[in-house]
Amino acid sequence: MSDFFSGKVAFITGAARGQGRAHAVRLASRGVNIIAVDICRDLPAIDYPNATRADLDETRDLVEAEGAKIVTGVADVADQAALRAVLDEGLAHFGRLDIAIANAGVVRYSEDDDPIATWNDVINTNLTGVWNTCFLVRQPIIDGGHGGSIVITSSTAGIKGTGRHHHRDRRYRHLSRERHLPDAASGELDRRTGHVS
Ligand SMILES: NC(=O)c1ccc[n+]([C@@H]2O[C@H](COP(=O)([O-])OP(=O)(O)OC[C@H]3O[C@@H](n4cnc5c(N)ncnc54)[C@H](O)[C@@H]3O)[C@@H](O)[C@H]2O)c1
Repeated sequence: MSDFFSGKVAFITGAARGQGRAHAVRLASRGVNIIAVDICRDLPAIDYPNATRADLDETRDLVEAEGAKIVTGVADVADQAALRAVLDEGLAHFGRLDIAIANAGVVRYSEDDDPIATWNDVINTNLTGVWNTCFLVRQPIIDGGHGGSIVITSSTAGIKGTGRHHHRDRRYRHLSRERHLPDAASGELDRRTGHVS
């Protein structure tokens, strides 16, 4: 199917399963090639498992089944050097970047024994990881000269605190989207902010 999206390239974090995978497969169905990154290991203070390398491989297979190309890489979004390495591999492969989806995110559901550890895991992924993603993708998108989109996934808990600390963390993440990230992306990018709750 050839349309507005065909031939474009999307960088998606947290792409091994869930919404990240869904974004990858949907965009692939519109002819978008994918750079997919995921941590593929658990975080110590998070009380459910993250995706695995097998999950990321399944995303690869699903994208390829749509007829699109994909570069996959394992990186923690909080690790800027590792994230850059995956992005650079994708850029070397595809030669352009049009779309970035900062989707990787974690939450703590149960009471925790070590709130500092939980804080660090959540902030590292939901705030530093989102900032790293936007910081790394902005120049390749600008350099392409044909526009692009940076999409940041948040939560309704990013709009209104719910009393639990990880939800307040999400609020900070929301603030980062609203205020700091457009600045980080420089005045060369137009800002379109939408909310889906
Ligand atoms: N599912 C919901 O109801 C819901 C509600 C509000 C917000 N969200 C947000 O939407 C996004 C997607 O949610 P989902 O339901 O698909 O979650 P999910 O847990 O199924 O997927 C998140 C993916 O991110 C990866 N990931 C986690 N930490 C990472 C890190 N530090 N670096 C790289 N990858 C990492 C995980 O391995 C996983 O593959 C997340 O940001 C989540 O917080 C989801």
